[in-house]
Amino acid sequence: MIPELSKSSVFMRDPGRVEQMLASMRNAGSSTLQVISDFDMTLTRFAYNGKRCPTCHNILDNSELISEDCKAKLQDLLDTYYPIEIDSTRSVEEKLPLMVEWWTKAHELLVQQKIRKDNLAPAVRESEAMLREGYQQFFDNLHQMCVPLLIFSAGIGDVLEEVIRQAGVFHPNVKVFSNYMDFDESGVLQAFKGQLIHIYNKREGALLNTEHFHELRSRSNVLLLGDSLGDLHMADGVTDMQNILKIGYLNDKVEERKPSYLNAYDIVLEKDETMDVPNGILLYITGQK
Ligand code: C5P
Ligand code: MG
Repeated sequence: MIPELSKSSVFMRDPGRVEQMLASMRNAGSSTLQVISDFDMTLTRFAYNGKRCPTCHNILDNSELISEDCKAKLQDLLDTYYPIEIDSTRSVEEKLPLMVEWWTKAHELLVQQKIRKDNLAPAVRESEAMLREGYQQFFDNLHQMCVPLLIFSAGIGDVLEEVIRQAGVFHPNVKVFSNYMDFDESGVLQAFKGQLIHIYNKREGALLNTEHFHELRSRSNVLLLGDSLGDLHMADGVTDMQNILKIGYLNDKVEERKPSYLNAYDIVLEKDETMDVPNGILLYITGQK
C-alpha cells in the first residue's frame, strides 16, 4: 500500500489496524483531513552527521544574543532537565513540575538578555537548525491539497515561525500554537505571552484553542506527528474525531523507550531523520498514489 512503511526504521504494534485506518481515511478524502504536528525533533532533525541539532530554545541558547555567563546557565539547565524529560523510569506526574521549572527558569534567563526582535531572524539563519529531509514535499503537498497543518510546540513561536519562513514553507494553511515572546515598544523581549506550553500540558493548550478546532470540525480525520509522549494530547481539542493516526519519532534512548512508544503511537519511526513515512501516508490518504 505504502512502500515507505517497509523501511527498516518503521515499527508498528498493530499493522492491521494501521492499514484499516489508512483505508478509512483515504475513503473519506482530503477534505476531511487535518494534520497536527509537534515542531522540535519532529519536523526538525534530531541529529545531522552524528551531531545533535538544536531545538527552538537551543537556537537562542547557542546564539550571539546570549552572554557567555547566561549560556553556561542555560547549558546547566539543559544538562539537568533534558535527562529527566527522556527518563522512561519516571512518571509524567513526577516529571511535570520539573518541566515547568525548566521552562520557567530558561524563559527568565532569556528575558534578562534583552533580546531584540530584529535579531531573531539572523540568529535562526546562523543556527544549525534543520527541518527533516523531505520537509518541502510535506509542507507543499499539504498546501496544495488545502489540508490545514497545526504546528503545536512547546518551543518558541517566534523562532519556529522564522525557521519555516526561512525554509520557504510558512504557507497560509499553517497555524502555530506555541510560546510567543512579548516585546516592548522598542522591540526588546520583556516577557513571554499567555499560558506557558511545556511538553506535558499540550492537552490544556489544545483546550484553550477550541475556536480553531471548531472551525475545522468537518475535518474528522487526524494525522498526528510527535516525538514525545506528551505530544499525544495535541489533538485533545478535536471535535467529532473519526480516525487519528499517530506517528511518533523515537530519537533518543531508543531501546528503553521503545515499548512505551509502540504502545502509544500507531507508527514508531526509530532514528529516522526523514519525512518519508508521513509523506508516503499523505500521498496515499489524499489519493495521489
Ligand atoms: O516543539 P516541541 O514541543 O517539541 O518543543 C519542546 C522541546 O524543547 C522539548 O523536547 C525540550 O527538550 C526542548 N527544550 C529546550 N530548552 C528549554 C526547554 C525545552 O531545548 N529550555
Ligand atoms: Mg518535540
